[in-house]
Amino acid sequence: MTDILTPAVSDYLLAHCTPADQVLLDLAAETRTTFGGAAGMQISHDEGELLTMLVRLTGARQAVEVGVFTGYSAICIARGLPKDGRLLACDVSQEWTGVARRYWERAEVAERIDLRIAPALDTLRALPFDPALDFALLMRTRKTIRFTIRS
Ligand SMILES: C[S@@+](CC[C@H](N)C(=O)[O-])C[C@H]1O[C@@H](n2cnc3c(N)ncnc32)[C@H](O)[C@@H]1O
Repeated sequence: MTDILTPAVSDYLLAHCTPADQVLLDLAAETRTTFGGAAGMQISHDEGELLTMLVRLTGARQAVEVGVFTGYSAICIARGLPKDGRLLACDVSQEWTGVARRYWERAEVAERIDLRIAPALDTLRALPFDPALDFALLMRTRKTIRFTIRS
């Protein structure tokens, strides 16, 4: 997903961010080994660090992600949330999110993540008006990503 950040921002983040921990390294490796070319859908470490920072800086408590895959970005979002924060994670694949669930346990963020297996539009339309969402990552395809932050 290196096309999301400009090279200057990506270089800056990689030079200054905390290196990926063993959980993220193992998740990236297992995703590559098990799913081959599909692993290209996974966000990069600098993008993950940016997500954690944005969630933390905005003080988001309620977040949503559309497009979980094997769960890398969900870990990064969940790490930016407070302990009582929640991430609603939407995907249609049991197979890919089965990997995600294992790594959420290892990363100790599983209790903050509510995974829904269904088309995201159905999940989102069924949400109550309250509580409002503070942060959203919409990432259904490799070429589509949008951040929405409400204060
Ligand atoms: C680009 S990947 C997401 C990458 C992920 N955020 C990560 O960091 O590894 C896109 C994901 O969107 C999911 N997806 C596709 N159509 C969907 C839909 N209608 N509702 C929910 N998820 C969908 C796919 O199953 C896939 O896992």
